[in-house]
Amino acid sequence: MKLIKKGAEAELYLINWFGYKAIKKVRVSKNYRIQSLDNFLRNYRTLNEAKMLINVKRINIPVPTVFDVILEEFSIVMEFIDGKLLKDLIPQLDDEMLDEIFTNLGCIVGRLHENGFFHGDLTTSNVILVDKNIFLIDFGLGGVSQEIEAFGVDVHLMLRALESTHHEISQKCFEYFKNGYSSTFSKSKEVFSKVLEIRRRGRYVVERRVKATINSFCI
Ligand SMILES: Nc1ncnc2c1ncn2[C@@H]1O[C@H](COP(=O)(O)OP(=O)(O)OP(=O)(O)O)[C@@H](O)[C@H]1O
Ligand SMILES: [Mg+2]
Repeated sequence: MKLIKKGAEAELYLINWFGYKAIKKVRVSKNYRIQSLDNFLRNYRTLNEAKMLINVKRINIPVPTVFDVILEEFSIVMEFIDGKLLKDLIPQLDDEMLDEIFTNLGCIVGRLHENGFFHGDLTTSNVILVDKNIFLIDFGLGGVSQEIEAFGVDVHLMLRALESTHHEISQKCFEYFKNGYSSTFSKSKEVFSKVLEIRRRGRYVVERRVKATINSFCI
């Protein structure tokens, strides 16, 4: 077993699964959480991620195939996607490629949402590209919803990831994303309004925090 990544909540190993190259994602214990809550979250997220991967694969969302779930060790064994993270590839892509990839990503996320699923942590770090083919990973926070809010949060997280890591091209990429998304999700307009609302809420919270800090200095 070769450790290839330590994520925020999991360790990822490259393994040989009966002749297939596979990833074993093990949710590790976090000692800042009380143990019963820690076990609950590791168990819940492991099962949830496996279920999400299996269910969204059925509607042809490109995700790794699940090979096994070993709940006693909070792990999932899944297909190894031999590609690059979208986050790392973006700086090397020309405008034509950005258009193709983000339009396609928007189509895929729109189809995910049209079927009632949300991702929960949709960022450019959770998208793997094999040439031009897109794969979504990291569904531990995903779920099923009929609320526009859940879909809005996904789109908001993608926009925020673009703005924070690829600021110069974020608007352009987001427009491409929106084009694809609108073509596959019937409620895309409602989602875009929700994204504006979520962003306003975020700014309001930041302003309140700044004011509170200033006030505390004035006391
Ligand atoms: N099926 C896979 N095939 C290839 N690489 C993978 C696969 N699953 C995960 N990875 C790699 O491991 C990294 C972390 O995986 P993942 O995002 O699922 O875990 P995480 O604990 O949520 O990590 P992070 O906090 O970085 O999001 C990914 O960014 C990717 O580089
Ligand atoms: Mg991740």
